[in-house]
Amino acid sequence: MTVAKLEEVTERVNLYALGVLAPPRYEHSVRVAELSRAMCVRFGADPVAGYLAGIAHDMCKSAKERWLLSMALRDGQPIIEVEEKKPSLLHGRAAAVLLESEFGIEDRSILDAVRHHTFGAPDMDPLGKIIFVADKVEPGRNGLDPAWLARLNESDLDGMTAMVLEHNIGYLDSRGKAVSPVTREMLASLKGRQLSNTQGGS
Ligand SMILES: [Fe+2]
Ligand SMILES: [Fe+2]
Repeated sequence: MTVAKLEEVTERVNLYALGVLAPPRYEHSVRVAELSRAMCVRFGADPVAGYLAGIAHDMCKSAKERWLLSMALRDGQPIIEVEEKKPSLLHGRAAAVLLESEFGIEDRSILDAVRHHTFGAPDMDPLGKIIFVADKVEPGRNGLDPAWLARLNESDLDGMTAMVLEHNIGYLDSRGKAVSPVTREMLASLKGRQLSNTQGGS
């Protein structure tokens, strides 16, 4: 898809999100899109794709549970236990299905970034990591420790992703909430990579 076409789709998705989301959720989506675009420039990913994935990532957040379940199933993957207990967690999968079927997006990287923004995935590409991180640390998120944020901003993309994963898992564990096994796998795979980097492994 050309840049002009991608920008045209972005505007359609933006209007859709503006129409269906409550103002605070829409404003969060704009902040994620803007941070994602900036991170794409910093880390060498496509900023146009980054903005689109950001504005799209929560566009199904206010949809009904039955709709989310039937949309998510169209990606061919099973519904896992945490999703069954809390179908709102399917809003990323549903948004990826909608982006492909209604907005004509075929770019795997954009679709996967939107699909996996809630739990993460062990084999995420740079755009996937950027959306995952931007969603959790956009400037409207309250209660993030400034020293932690400063350390985050000095890290590379894998380091940032690992920090956000640890933060999320710690938050969920401390409240006795379920953590998706995929989220733990993603952290383990990033830690393994960082360890092999420091040990000089390939
Ligand atoms: Fe979300
Ligand atoms: Fe979000």
